[in-house]
Amino acid sequence: MEGGWPAGGGLLLCLTVSLLLQGRGDTFTINCSGFDHLGVDPSAFQAVFDRKTFRPVINYSIPTQVNISFTVSAILEVDAQLQLLTSFLWINLIWDNPFISWNPEECVGIKKLTVSAENLWIPDIFIVEAMDMDRTPSGLSAYVSNEGRIRYDRPVRVTSICNLDIFYFPFDQQNCTFTFTSFLYTVDNLLLGMAKEVWEISNTSRDILQTQGEWEFLGINKATPRLLVGSSVYDRIIFYVAIRRRPRLYVINLLVPSSFLVAIDALSFYLPAESQNRAPFKITLLLGYNVFLLMMNDLLPASGTPLISVYFALCLSLMVLSLLETIFITYLLNLATTQPPPMPPWLYSLLLHCTSPMKCCPTASQKGNKDLGLTLAHLPGLKEPVEFVGKVPSPQEAELNGSPGSSMGQQEDKAQQQQLVSLWVQFSHMMDTLLFHLYLLFMATFVITVIVLWNT
Ligand SMILES: *[C@@H]1O[C@H](CO)[C@@H](O)[C@H](O)[C@H]1NC(C)=O
Ligand SMILES: *[C@@H]1O[C@H](CO)[C@@H](O)[C@H](O)[C@H]1NC(C)=O
Ligand SMILES: *[C@@H]1O[C@H](CO)[C@@H](O)[C@H](O)[C@H]1NC(C)=O
Ligand SMILES: *[C@@H]1O[C@H](CO)[C@@H](O)[C@H](O)[C@H]1NC(C)=O
Repeated sequence: MEGGWPAGGGLLLCLTVSLLLQGRGDTFTINCSGFDHLGVDPSAFQAVFDRKTFRPVINYSIPTQVNISFTVSAILEVDAQLQLLTSFLWINLIWDNPFISWNPEECVGIKKLTVSAENLWIPDIFIVEAMDMDRTPSGLSAYVSNEGRIRYDRPVRVTSICNLDIFYFPFDQQNCTFTFTSFLYTVDNLLLGMAKEVWEISNTSRDILQTQGEWEFLGINKATPRLLVGSSVYDRIIFYVAIRRRPRLYVINLLVPSSFLVAIDALSFYLPAESQNRAPFKITLLLGYNVFLLMMNDLLPASGTPLISVYFALCLSLMVLSLLETIFITYLLNLATTQPPPMPPWLYSLLLHCTSPMKCCPTASQKGNKDLGLTLAHLPGLKEPVEFVGKVPSPQEAELNGSPGSSMGQQEDKAQQQQLVSLWVQFSHMMDTLLFHLYLLFMATFVITVIVLWNT
């Protein structure tokens, strides 16, 4: 054809073609009579080496079958922001070169040899997802068997794009793809096959994977759709590599402290509402939570909105809500003890209803409040040890009474006032309990939702 071959190569080719036409028989393309005392004779392979530019086939309408397998030897890094997976693969390619064959009996029993890969035709198989230069070390060799089967293994550090879904972070599982295809050869010239079964690849990878890092290897799947570009069809093998994050670090550093803070926030409802400690305590917690979020921000994925961010935001909102509730209750209590507004009748009846023995709405009795056993209907108003004690009726009221000296009227007025105060105080406690229960309900719903979402 090209006419540039050395005469030996041409002769060899003719010889092979004629051999193939007659059936293989026991004639061989490589004469290894000199192998025993000189080592391997390079000139015996010279014809093969000279042909390395061309795809090694006898009939060009027959495609070369290249069988592929690989081993994942390390998962180095998963970058959620750039959507990159960095891994280390050992790629094995196996194909046949019909111009190589020798008789092992003549060749001191040698059945396979290593040959420097640069002297052989190598199929241009690459990984479509790889986003980095191929960092294959140079100077690799390939095994050549006496039947012409060539096995070429190379280690590659692959930085490949992977569509990472971090919604379920840190309980996420990723499904990255490695698509092996030829850069140049269409199906007419090159076919891809599997050198090993997928489960074998999976098992070897699991055994080899040394890193006990963040990612756990789950398994490999494959698909073999062909790729149509214009009028050329390319053979492809797509491997799906499933990996799962080990969440322990994140559970210990993110979820546990955050849950503790929220639990303490919930427990702080048991601080008596009258004491002035509750609001400062909650503010401190809120501050602490903010500091925690700032410090732990580095652990979160830099892009996207994982569920855990929503979880943190909701925890923060819960704390803010509970602080608002405390402010509201403090305001209510303050109002009740300083200048109680007249109580609307419906509220009065509601309070009556709620303090009756059969409780159908939340009461503050669990909170150890002092005077809730009492029935409001015949309230003497003297038991209540609120701050109101010592406070005189407002001047207007005193004036309205007309006779400031009349101790009977004043006494009655004071008793009524006190009753009103205690009603309001009771109402505040009731509101506090009700809101606390609402808070707990909201928190439980939210925690259960998050857990259910994480478990799916
Ligand atoms: C192999 O080569 C040697 C010389 O190097 C020659 O004597 C021998 O006949 C050859 N054998 C075959 C099978 O061609
Ligand atoms: C090459 O292969 C094709 C298809 O297998 C066949 O039709 C053709 O005759 C072969 N050519 C030669 C020279 O063997
Ligand atoms: C490739 O695999 C196919 C089927 O698994 C097998 O028939 C063929 O001989 C293999 N070819 C090479 C070169 O290993
Ligand atoms: C990965 O994704 C592919 C296609 O989307 C699917 O066929 C395969 O089963 C997935 N593998 C795992 C382990 O989820």
